[in-house]
Amino acid sequence: MAGQIIALASLKGGCGKSTLALNLAAGLARSGSVGLVDSDPQGALRHWADWAESAGGEGLPQVLAGGADPVAVIVEAARRHRYVVVDCPPSLDRVVTRRVLRRVDRVLIPVLPSPLDLWACAETVAAVREAREHNPGLRAWLLINQAEPSSALSRAMSRALSSLDVPTLSCAVRRRAAFRTAALEGVSVYQLGARGREAAREIDQVIEEVNRT
Ligand SMILES: Nc1ncnc2c1ncn2[C@@H]1O[C@H](COP(=O)(O)OP(=O)(O)OP(=O)(O)O)[C@@H](O)[C@H]1O
Ligand SMILES: [Mg+2]
Repeated sequence: MAGQIIALASLKGGCGKSTLALNLAAGLARSGSVGLVDSDPQGALRHWADWAESAGGEGLPQVLAGGADPVAVIVEAARRHRYVVVDCPPSLDRVVTRRVLRRVDRVLIPVLPSPLDLWACAETVAAVREAREHNPGLRAWLLINQAEPSSALSRAMSRALSSLDVPTLSCAVRRRAAFRTAALEGVSVYQLGARGREAAREIDQVIEEVNRT
């Protein structure tokens, strides 16, 4: 992922964009400097970073507020950092997400393992298609988030996933208390020690698969 800009985007809210952006940024930070751009006007990552600071925590990548022009912040961050991770806003702010998609190299679209969530991400896939008219090199993957331990995806889910013209990463991120605990403690799962080990391993796998494919 050297020199790469990667966004977490979905026009569906609450699928894990901010959680995954922060933890992927923390994972990438172990191999190079990372700028984490918060393009969400609600500033979830800013709150997370402020929380970390007030708790005396360390180790979160630098959070850059996207402000009124997140694309300019992304371009500037790409000059300074080896990796740039961009957290996109929730569903309501389609304009920002569409602008970001025109500028990034890669996008991960988190999707919860339920048919309703899957159908709802068709709109994000359409936004990726549209962005490629301006940004033909844009690479995109769906990432199953909050997978349940025992749940192999139903056949209907697998069929629906394969009908979308964006591939699904073969690794998934499970529903784990560690992701919530990390947010509560103002850290990433990498700083949770044994409590975050499995979660951190999953984030490493996501990074590895995105790098490899
Ligand atoms: N893998 C996971 N395991 C457990 N909880 C998770 C996981 N991923 C996300 N969550 C929790 O799900 C909720 C929504 O996650 P998050 O805020 O990251 O989603 P989002 O897509 O950024 O939402 P929004 O669209 O509002 O910006 C949060 O409470 C978060 O802690
Ligand atoms: Mg968010």
